[in-house]
Amino acid sequence: MSHAPLAGKSALVTGASRGLGEAVARQLWTAGASLALFARDAAALDAVTLSLPPAAGQSARAFPCDIGDFASLDAAHAAAAAALGDLDVLVNNAAVQGPLGPMETLDFAAWRRVFDVDLFAAARLCQLVVPGMRRRGGGKIVNISGGGATGPRPDVTAYACAKTALVRLGETLAEELRDAGIDVNGVSPGAMNTRMLEETLAAGPAGARREYAAAAERKAKATGVPPDKAAELVVFLASPASDGITGRLLSAVWDDWKSLPDRRDALAMSDVYTLRRITPDDRK
Ligand SMILES: NC(=O)c1ccc[n+]([C@@H]2O[C@H](COP(=O)([O-])OP(=O)(O)OC[C@H]3O[C@@H](n4cnc5c(N)ncnc54)[C@H](OP(=O)(O)O)[C@@H]3O)[C@@H](O)[C@H]2O)c1
Repeated sequence: MSHAPLAGKSALVTGASRGLGEAVARQLWTAGASLALFARDAAALDAVTLSLPPAAGQSARAFPCDIGDFASLDAAHAAAAAALGDLDVLVNNAAVQGPLGPMETLDFAAWRRVFDVDLFAAARLCQLVVPGMRRRGGGKIVNISGGGATGPRPDVTAYACAKTALVRLGETLAEELRDAGIDVNGVSPGAMNTRMLEETLAAGPAGARREYAAAAERKAKATGVPPDKAAELVVFLASPASDGITGRLLSAVWDDWKSLPDRRDALAMSDVYTLRRITPDDRK
């Protein structure tokens, strides 16, 4: 990858006020992109924007909004489009873990609200950016997946279900948008010691019961995956080096994604890195 593979491009990153979204914003900036950054915390968003090193020909703007509130989301997108024009890259990173614990004990309104942020906002942003990407002759959409998207995650039902749907949305849009040169992929960032870890701990052992002890150990031993690892994969999926790689869910920790450009044709013929039903034949 060249040093500035995203020179002249513009990218929208949700949840850029901290954690993985902040790391993604910083790496996209280093890669040459102009940025539209979304999150609720205006002060934190401003701090990220102002701390980016000056770069000729690039601009970074904060658009504070609640993406779970569609009036707020649409207004922020309109302001971003007015400032930056048609976008080349969308990173749907913002998410909430939501209520933790046995499904039957959870407040259902809170359960539903997880979908507003983790799924519906991402879907709405896809709707909003795709026409501009079509005008630009291509684009890149990266959806951040999460624990539970590829297997059951007891006590984390809302988050797991919303993330599973987000991955399927990405696979489906990848097919719809293939001829438009718009690549849509998902990223599994691995277990990171961000605020989500703090939420798991704050919910206590009655929250995400199977994960609580592991989360406490991860925090105590500081063994989480650095957000920069997943941010590097996001930049790859936002860059021309990944053109034609679409409809996949890639792990920043486990997958040899750097070799994918050499395996592009074989990948296109295969269903690896996708969500599929396993049949007895697959296990022979
Ligand atoms: N941490 C992990 O171990 C882990 C593992 C797998 C996947 N992930 C995924 O990685 C992504 C980033 O998570 P993280 O660990 O960096 O979490 P985080 O530190 O909690 O950051 C979440 C980001 O989303 C924003 N956000 C939340 N609700 C929002 C809303 N209604 N409107 C606008 N922005 C909102 C937050 O900003 P404001 O609070 O300022 O709004 C913040 O910038 C998420 O998609 C998560 O599911 C995380």
